[in-house]
Formats: sequence, structure tokens, C-alpha cells
Amino acid sequence: MIFMSNPNGIERNLLRPAGIEPLAVMTFLNGDWKTPMTTASRMSGLSLKILRQEARHCRACHLWKNATQTVFGEGPQNAQMMLVGEQPGDKEDLAGKPFVGPAGLMLDRALEEAGIDRRKVYVTNAVKHFKFVQRGKIRLHQKPNTAEIKACRQWYERELAAIKPALVVAMGATAAQCVFNKITPINKNRGRLIDLDDGIKALVTVHPSYLLRQPDADAKALEYARFVDDFRIAAAALRKSARAA
Ligand code: URA
Repeated sequence: MIFMSNPNGIERNLLRPAGIEPLAVMTFLNGDWKTPMTTASRMSGLSLKILRQEARHCRACHLWKNATQTVFGEGPQNAQMMLVGEQPGDKEDLAGKPFVGPAGLMLDRALEEAGIDRRKVYVTNAVKHFKFVQRGKIRLHQKPNTAEIKACRQWYERELAAIKPALVVAMGATAAQCVFNKITPINKNRGRLIDLDDGIKALVTVHPSYLLRQPDADAKALEYARFVDDFRIAAAALRKSARAA
């Protein structure tokens, strides 16, 4: 359970279920709701099961209103690699699982080609509710804005603290903004290991949907090969960190 407090000391219970101890007290500072626990080292490694339950009732932004459900991360708590996407799409919103639609299939293929077993990876999203506009029968994906990314970042922080992976891979601009807590250009930062707090490394790559949007087969093949190369760098970093452990 999360409590929010304003500068006058008024606390607000953000989440519904009774009988769960607060995970954090959020404070309204400089126009933003902030959690005082901003790095993994300052947060206890809570069980993913508890986090998932709490996130089901998250009301930190308005996106829960139209979404079917919270799509929390999925994967083992002892994962060495954490993959961060943007937000659930239509299929993920209905299934309640991240990356099960077309972008997920592309991701699965690239991971396999790079020698990474998805079952050993923790897969999550920067924003955990589907943001869309309804166009007839179709729900059209909408990019989350900075306020929504910030409101949801508490869950990424808690997932990170619970898992303590060796490597976080941010796929696309929204994921990079979440992981680095600031706007982070993809091309400038792509494909190299970047230090986060607590000895955790990060790697930036494109979002798999970017590959799906490529205009022709040649461009798609080229971008796909670069995407796989980024995951090869990730796999090598994980091997190195396993040897050092
Ligand atoms: N795109 C994402 O960023 N995440 C998903 O889970 C699915 C599509």
C-alpha cells in the first residue's frame, strides 16, 4: 500500500486493499508526486508477488480508467537481466502479460537468436496500463507522456529493487526515459553499457515495434540485425558478470 503526503502532511492512501503495510510515502514536491526512495539501495527487495498485487490497484495516473488491467512485469525474481518496454499494447492489455503481441514475437525471435532464454529474463514496461484512443472497434496505441512515465516509475524502481539484476535493457525512448529518469536519446546511447546505481549496468536499444514499422524488407532486416547485435552485447555482459560473481 502506498500513502501520498502533501506538504501540509496530509497523507493519501493510493491503493485500495486493506491490511497491507505501506511500501512508500509519496510527497508532492515541485509539482510532482515523488517517492523518497529513488534508488534500489534505499529500497527493500520486496517480493514481486506482493508488488504485482499492489500494482493491480494503482491509481497514480489516469490510465487505469480505460485499461482492462495493470500489466505488471513477468519473469523470475532472480533474473540477471531485466527488459523494459514502453507500455502494454492491445493484446497485452487483454492477456495481462507483457510482450505477448506482435512486438513480443519479434522480441522473442531476437532474444533466441542472441542466445538469451526469455524464461530467465524479467520482462516489464515503463508504463503498466495500456494508453489508447478508441477508433471504431480498434484501440489505437498512444505514446505515454512524461507525467504518466513519472507516475508509473515507482513500480519500475520496486521491480528493480526486488530483482537486483546485473543488467537492465531499455527498449525505446519511453523505456530509456524511465530507466535513466530523464529523456535519453536512443541513437547516442545505443549498444554500450552504462552504469546505473548499485553496480547495475544498462543497455539502450530500439523498441521491437520500431522494427515492425520499417518501410521495406531491407530496412527491416538491417534494423533487426542491429537489434540482435544489441542483445549479443547484453548476453556477453551477463556472461562477464556471472564470471565475476
Ligand atoms: N510494447 C511494449 O512496449 N510492451 C509490451 O508489453 C507490448 C508492446
